[in-house]
Amino acid sequence: MNEFILATANPGKVAEMQKILGDLSISFVTRDDFGITIDVEETGTTFLENATLKAKAICKASGLPAIADDSGLIVDALSGEPGLYSSSYGGEQLTNEERYNFLLKKMKNMEHRAAKFVCTIVCAFPSGELLTATGECLGTILEKPRGSGGFGYDPVFLPDGFEKSMAELTADEKNKISHRAVALFNFAELLKSHTTLKGTLQ
Ligand code: IMP
Repeated sequence: MNEFILATANPGKVAEMQKILGDLSISFVTRDDFGITIDVEETGTTFLENATLKAKAICKASGLPAIADDSGLIVDALSGEPGLYSSSYGGEQLTNEERYNFLLKKMKNMEHRAAKFVCTIVCAFPSGELLTATGECLGTILEKPRGSGGFGYDPVFLPDGFEKSMAELTADEKNKISHRAVALFNFAELLKSHTTLKGTLQ
């Protein structure tokens, strides 16, 4: 059985990754299983760089192929903000609600409200090889928050083709269309055709 380690310490993401990648014949361990407590500094200037930093560090610490992700919200009318700084936009100490309200205030009276969530997944192998995959979820920023599911900016994000905000979708509905889900599906396809794993995965 091929064993991978998930670089994220976020239990919600671990569950989502295990669900989407769980159909492949691979097993996952988490950072907790390995007692890895290092905090990798996200000093990159792109989602790809940050995901690569995390994947390489956890691969080095564990000796296993490590899967890391980095994601964020990109708003057209704000020249791509909050982007790489999605988790600290408006101030490190803000709650999720304060943070999306900060965004809504910035966008007050703006008509052009197109936005997207993006996610980059990187798998770093002990050989030094890297596999990368990306996913996007297009939508618009609502004028007011709706719903209480999900996390982060979900209450103010209306995915294209839906009448419910991301926070009004069920977890299963979100997991079919989210940027992270799309990136994970793309990553699963890459893994299936990866030379060293080919034939050992379904
Ligand atoms: P990270 O990839 O967990 O570091 O995500 C960075 C930030 O992007 C999070 O703190 C959220 O503010 C935002 N974000 C990422 N994914 C989502 C999502 O699925 N819904 C809402 N916000 C998200």
